Amino acid sequence: MFVFVFIMSKCLLLAALLKQVSSKVEFYSRFSPSPLSIKQFLDFGRENACEKTSYMFLRKELAVRLANTMREVNLLPDNLLCQPSVKLVQKWYMQSFLELLEYENRAAEDPRNLNDFLDVLIDIRNRHNDVVPTMAQGVIEYKEQFGFDPFISSNIQYFLDRFYTSRISFRMLINQHTLLFGNNTNPAHPKHIGSIDPACNMAEVVTDAYETAKMLCEQYYERAPELHIEEFNAKAPNKPIQVVYVPSHLFHMLFELFKNSMRATVELYANSSEDLPPVQALVTLGKEDLSIKISDRGGGVPLRKIDRLFNYMYSTAPSPSLKPSRAAPLAGFGYGLPISRLYARYFQGDLVLYSMEGVGTDAVIYLKALSSESFERLPVFNKSAWRHYQTGPEADDWSSPSREPRDASTYKANS
Ligand SMILES: Nc1ncnc2c1ncn2[C@@H]1O[C@H](COP(=O)(O)OP(=O)(O)OP(=O)(O)O)[C@@H](O)[C@H]1O
Ligand SMILES: *[C@@H]1O[C@H](CO)[C@@H](O)[C@H](O)[C@H]1NC(C)=O
Ligand SMILES: *[C@@H]1O[C@H](CO)[C@@H](O)[C@H](O)[C@H]1NC(C)=O
Ligand SMILES: *[C@@H]1O[C@H](CO)[C@@H](O)[C@H](O)[C@H]1NC(C)=O
Ligand SMILES: [Mg+2]
Repeated sequence: MFVFVFIMSKCLLLAALLKQVSSKVEFYSRFSPSPLSIKQFLDFGRENACEKTSYMFLRKELAVRLANTMREVNLLPDNLLCQPSVKLVQKWYMQSFLELLEYENRAAEDPRNLNDFLDVLIDIRNRHNDVVPTMAQGVIEYKEQFGFDPFISSNIQYFLDRFYTSRISFRMLINQHTLLFGNNTNPAHPKHIGSIDPACNMAEVVTDAYETAKMLCEQYYERAPELHIEEFNAKAPNKPIQVVYVPSHLFHMLFELFKNSMRATVELYANSSEDLPPVQALVTLGKEDLSIKISDRGGGVPLRKIDRLFNYMYSTAPSPSLKPSRAAPLAGFGYGLPISRLYARYFQGDLVLYSMEGVGTDAVIYLKALSSESFERLPVFNKSAWRHYQTGPEADDWSSPSREPRDASTYKANS
């Protein structure tokens, strides 16, 4: 009897707790996230940043961003939601959200709270380290069971772009806080404000990313194309191009582009003893845009396939653990391009591929030249977003090519 009552009350407790949590998720998801510009991040970090202010902002803002995402996850098709990997990711979000809620009413005046909060942020960041491959695993599992459906695929595309952007954003917030107020200042980069370099030298990051990709490429193919780098500063002629930016984001994008260009080049010349055509990098700065073009002569991609390269569902790669290890380092999930584009778009830039089949590919990263214009681009969960999941892609209203050439008699009859 006693045991029974105990179990009953435990169940009730759990149910009550769940109800309370979901009402909190609902509460926080009604706020829209507040996008910050790189300039705002920088100014805050520079003027002897106040940990209390950051604490009070983050405990709400992170909860808002998590809650917006958690509401949106629930709009995915049930068959995807019940994949174990997706459930695991949802569990991580729930746990992180609960940990943040602990601080809802904890005073900023008590330094113990501030210290504990720092540790919690680090825990949250670590917990979410593997969200991208785990989610990818869920999509692969789903595809294996239920096949490919254009309506579902377009919803998953829409969702994952927003989901991964939100993740990039809350990692950005967490990194700023932990780097500014954590114990260890960054000895390698004393001039950085958190993760932001106020004078990020483009040529240096380009070279860095190239060298890292080259190392991988040489390991697997025994050779790698050279790099030719050129700058064109239209704003301040002949000055090196610098920008206020997050170097790790830039590195991520460039590294992915270099890996792709190198793989295409080396594989095109696999049976040839000719020298590999170099990969060209052109960095330009105008009034509004800072653009970086990475060009290769790796044979290109036909136009018909370009959109697919950014599609999560099309990425046919099986889970990396199942793949032969030889190809692994230069090509994995097929998430290199889509995630890089999200990094570019996160601060109002973009990443575009221009390819000429048979010859090669130009990939261009566009960034805002001014840090006051690079506001975070964040997903908002509201009615407009909700509507996206209800309606499928528009039915096609352009002619499709006829299967068979019509014979002369039908031509006559129609004309
Ligand atoms: N410069 C390029 N030249 C030719 N093909 C390219 C180029 N860039 C990308 N591709 C094609 O686009 C595909 C998708 O690229 P993406 O970087 O997104 O994924 P991946 O390289 O296959 O895997 P990873 O996730 O490791 O990057 C590549 O597999 C390749 O077929
Ligand atoms: C900072 O240092 C204090 C004492 O040395 C330690 O208790 C705390 O966990 C550290 N915090 C972080 C984020 O490293
Ligand atoms: C290189 O040679 C191999 C084996 O002869 C062939 O399968 C492959 O398609 C060739 N690659 C190119 C790019 O011509
Ligand atoms: C949803 O949010 C976006 C961005 O804040 C806004 O532009 C849009 O009008 C909102 N839609 C609704 C239905 O509230
Ligand atoms: Mg790649």
